[in-house]
Amino acid sequence: MAKTKSAYFCQSCGYESAKWLGKCPSCQQWNTFVEEVVEKSAAHVPTWKSASGQQRLNKPNKVEEIESANEDRLSTGDVELDRVLGGGLVAGSVTLIGGEPGIGKSTLMLQLALNISRRKILYVSGEESEQQIKMRAERITAQPKAACYILTETSTQNIFKQIEQLEPEILIIDSIQTLHSSHIDSTPGSVSQVRECTAELLRFAKETATPVFLIGHITKDGAIAGPKILEHMVDTVLQFEGDRHHIYRILRSIKNRFGAAAELGIYAMEGNGLREVSNPSEILLSQRDEELSGITIGATLEGARPMLIETQALVSVSAYGTPQRSATGFDTKRMNMLLAVLEKRCGFRLSAKDVFLNIAGGIKVEDPAIDLSIVAAIISSHEDISISSKICFAAEVGLSGEIRAVNRIEQRILEAEKLGFEKMFISTYNMKGFDKNKFSIDIITVSKIEEVFSVLFG
Ligand code: TYD
Ligand code: MG
Repeated sequence: MAKTKSAYFCQSCGYESAKWLGKCPSCQQWNTFVEEVVEKSAAHVPTWKSASGQQRLNKPNKVEEIESANEDRLSTGDVELDRVLGGGLVAGSVTLIGGEPGIGKSTLMLQLALNISRRKILYVSGEESEQQIKMRAERITAQPKAACYILTETSTQNIFKQIEQLEPEILIIDSIQTLHSSHIDSTPGSVSQVRECTAELLRFAKETATPVFLIGHITKDGAIAGPKILEHMVDTVLQFEGDRHHIYRILRSIKNRFGAAAELGIYAMEGNGLREVSNPSEILLSQRDEELSGITIGATLEGARPMLIETQALVSVSAYGTPQRSATGFDTKRMNMLLAVLEKRCGFRLSAKDVFLNIAGGIKVEDPAIDLSIVAAIISSHEDISISSKICFAAEVGLSGEIRAVNRIEQRILEAEKLGFEKMFISTYNMKGFDKNKFSIDIITVSKIEEVFSVLFG
């Protein structure tokens, strides 16, 4: 019997070492090394072999001589998912979907498996029983459009046996962390298992041109569990996120070899599955009849998609010695910076005030163009003067109180115009090379934060 061979792997980045280390030399994390058995079967043959069983030998070709493949994209029947994938599914692509437990990864994938018309789909689950999946499928749809097969199996070798018989056109793996390959001795979910199983599935996808979806768990820090190289191996990485207490979910592309990264799809989780939200601004703006202080609207851009989002602020006298600062959906450090700018440049006394910020709809915004809207909401609440709901903002605020330009301003203006806004505050520096007269919305350009307040509050 062959001697068992083991190695230590960093659970964070997948770095391999012969001995245990306290600190990973690659990702600098402490205490991440775990021993894993890496003994492989004597003759390690790839599990998925091409029909002939022979390895192809590739020759170098001149780039002009390579035939450009007319990339046929397969529509998934889900507009949001198609957009995030860059216009549909590409043959032989491997897509990894990460997200917190209970966010709806399995629901999204099952919905895709049921709704894509006239295709044969294999949904492999290592997490749930057939009955559980059946129950969920019944909630989603009464009439599946596709031939969707469910397999509860965790061994990749067995999965490939079934695939050879069934020949599915799309493969979905409900959680890569539950799979194990018999070529490797370590437990499912360990770095070497995840890596091996992904490599086998990757080989299968490329050789048969079958699109594969992998659902991945995430760690408590929000990264996809398993080695970082997992993200390098696959073609596309999507992140499913949102607040579990809200119904809205966001599908974000983090990496995409076949389309733009940072694309975004929005869903609402309802009683019968996920519903696509095609006009996000309408739901992100709360319908209010009266004007309230502390509420403003920012024109943000997520991916290539403009969205008008309501920002809310509450500024009140602090009851304790140390004022409280809290932000939901916005970076707290950035909020503190904006408060310091207001204090120093505009003379608002905010240091003894509690400040609470909230982005409506449970959405997280990273676009700096929301800055001006947040600043205006804070002052509106501080002064207790409401700002008309027909006004929106799109500009970044710099440390010296300057109003900075933001990208794709025309797209933001068009969206605001479409939604019936009457006035929009943007940076003077955004005016280069465009004519504001071509928009019917009233554009107010500002270069200093003080100007914004003199225009707003007189
Ligand atoms: P699930 O898809 O199991 O999440 P994950 O695979 O990411 O862990 O998530 C399901 C959650 O969504 C669960 O809490 C129940 C809820 N849900 C609905 O609200 N409506 C539905 O139609 C379905 C199928 C699930
Ligand atoms: Mg699940």
